[in-house]
Amino acid sequence: MIESKLGERVFSTPDIQQRVQEVAHHISADYSGKRPLLISILRGAAYFTMDLTRHLTIPFDLDFMSLSSFKTGFKKIEIDKDVSEEMANRDVLIVEDIIDTGLTLNFLFRVMEKRFPASIAACTFLDCPERRFIEVPVKYSCFKIPDIFVVGYGLDFRGDYRNLMEVSTLFDPSGRSTQILKQMGKGGTK
Ligand code: PRP
Repeated sequence: MIESKLGERVFSTPDIQQRVQEVAHHISADYSGKRPLLISILRGAAYFTMDLTRHLTIPFDLDFMSLSSFKTGFKKIEIDKDVSEEMANRDVLIVEDIIDTGLTLNFLFRVMEKRFPASIAACTFLDCPERRFIEVPVKYSCFKIPDIFVVGYGLDFRGDYRNLMEVSTLFDPSGRSTQILKQMGKGGTK
């Protein structure tokens, strides 16, 4: 059973659903009168994207991009699957599951800026500023997390746990994650 390797719950399903709805309302208000092009970054962001878009009250287009990254000293990022939609003169909103080092989002901004969009912004389910290598503008984020490894709601560990409806830590025998969560006033739940 893969569930036995889970640690503690960080965000419950109701908390996630409420926050995703709030962010969708902000986006709908900010893009009122426009038709943004949402670009969901596979694979992790697929779950967040589906829930987020269900709560949007504005018209939008949806496309997907898939990246691969190689950690050979420095993180090298390449496009595996590009978008089908034209980005020129569009209000592009990148949808991510998590921003960690910021290298992926920085790469996306650099690639997309060359395609002459009217605007580019980023929306992420989780934001982990403590792990940043490079500053990137994150306009919308559902939750900030400390430097702990989490799974669920699109986030995986070696391909597992993406489909969990809540976000949890992995079992951490050192107790580090538990300690950090306690400091946040969270944890203690399975
Ligand atoms: C994750 C996430 C972001 C990236 C963020 O993708 O979806 O694209 O890492 O990390 P960074 O800020 O350190 O660059 P991952 O490589 O795990 O692929 P996946 O979504 O297919 O699981």
